[in-house]
Amino acid sequence: MGARVRSVVVAAASMALVVGVAVGVVSAQGEWRAPADAKAMKNPVKGAGNAKKAVETNCVSCHGASGKGDGPAAAALPPPKPADWTSAKVQAESDGELFWKISNGRGAMPPWKHLPDKERWEIVNYIRTLKK
Ligand code: HEC
Repeated sequence: MGARVRSVVVAAASMALVVGVAVGVVSAQGEWRAPADAKAMKNPVKGAGNAKKAVETNCVSCHGASGKGDGPAAAALPPPKPADWTSAKVQAESDGELFWKISNGRGAMPPWKHLPDKERWEIVNYIRTLKK
């Protein structure tokens, strides 16, 4: 391979990298889906326990007191905005998917893996009580 050909190849490769990264950033704003095994996870916990309290401490700043995604911090965030927990879209997701999203977060949504599993499942059950 001549030096010129090689530099063209290198240039093309780095272009592909730049485009790839840009696409990655854009798709992070798109549909947020949990992996299939996470979606299929069964909720082992009954009832919401103290989830209301945990939510008041950790979530309402963004998700709002009634879970509609209209907390005081939401206005300052770029899209995607905090999810409306009462929406048909969120309520249509499986418990496993909500649990996974709460655990892992994305973008401005922090990961909550440090909360005990039981508490995260109780939060999922609490979100269910907000169904319209
Ligand atoms: C700093 C702001 C912020 C805080 C605090 C926060 N969230 Fe979020 N949350 C977001 C944003 C932004 C999204 C949308 C993320 C996306 O779509 O990429 C989101 C999305 C979600 C979703 C996904 C809804 C869906 O089905 O797509 C759930 C569930 C959720 N949050 C639960 C929680 C819980 C539970 C807490 C507290 C333990 C919490 N969030 C705290 C900002 C926040």
